[in-house]
Order: sequence, then structure tokens, then C-alpha cells
Amino acid sequence: MIRPILRMGDPRLLQRSQEVTAFGTPALERLIGDMFDTMHAADGAGLAAPQIGVLLRLVIFGSAGELPNPRYPGEPPVPQTILVNPVLQPLGDEMEEGWEGCLSVPGLRGVVPRWRRLRYSGFDPEGRPVERTVEGFHARVVQHECDHLDGILYPMRVRDFTRFGFTDVLFPELSGAPADD
Ligand code: NI
Repeated sequence: MIRPILRMGDPRLLQRSQEVTAFGTPALERLIGDMFDTMHAADGAGLAAPQIGVLLRLVIFGSAGELPNPRYPGEPPVPQTILVNPVLQPLGDEMEEGWEGCLSVPGLRGVVPRWRRLRYSGFDPEGRPVERTVEGFHARVVQHECDHLDGILYPMRVRDFTRFGFTDVLFPELSGAPADD
């Protein structure tokens, strides 16, 4: 079921979400199904549970196919991933700047510095451990989604506001994409 996406200004997006404690339950399966329906309907690169008003430490991102996300056509595809109770560990101290948008901040993009490489760990919906070492856009998407679990929206990390603006002004070539954010 497609759920409404909370938009910046809603105080629930500023909360710290709680750990998931019950794995493999029908309620968790339903929640994840709703998150995928919602993310796909908006062509999102990822979605965090608090964005649909559920304050649990759960994120989804990536896509099952090999195609790049239409909202980020220049970026490599990221494997479809469900990550519960994630923990991020930066590898090295290298940061990288890149453009980000957010379904909770529709119509805007900004340049955000992120760790270039990191290891992330957590659990799948059945409670089995997940661990990956990633870099670049994949690492950026994970950092963006996991920030939502701590009440952080990407505009809070923008340092150079000359590179923050409306998507259709910054990137007119994207204006034909199915989503307007
Ligand atoms: Ni977001």
C-alpha cells in the first residue's frame, strides 16, 4: 500500500527512531511492503521508515534491476537492500561531495559532503546479519537514509547554499522524469 510521505516541517522527521526488536513478523513484512510500494511510486532511490511516520530503524534503498534510478540517471545502480537497525562505520577519512534530493523535501537538490567509503551492518527482515563495504553513490544513499533514523534531513548537512536549489532550475534535463523531485 502506498503511504503518504511526510514532508520537511513535520516534527516526526526530526525524531530519533527506535530499534526494531521483532523480526520476521507479519507487521514488519507489511511495513516493508508499504515502504517499497511508496518508494517505487515516487521513483525514490531509498526510503526510511520515519518518512512514512513509523519511527523504527529500518531503511530500504536500491533497485532490483540494472537500470539507474530515473531521479539520478548519472549514478550507478544500487542493489535492492532492506536494512534493519543499521550501523555505519566510515573507512578512511575521505569525504566526497554529491547532489542529493529527498522525497521528504520535494522539488529541491543540494550538494552534501559524505564519507566516500564505509562498512555498513545490520539485519535483514528475518534477523539475519547483513554486512557490506561500499563507496561512492551506494555509500551516499546509505548515509542519507540512515540519517533519517536520527532525525537528520540532508539540507541540515548542506554547507554551500550556492549549490542548493530547485531541481527543475538546476537540472532542466531531469524535468521530464516521472517524479518532480
Ligand atoms: Ni531522504
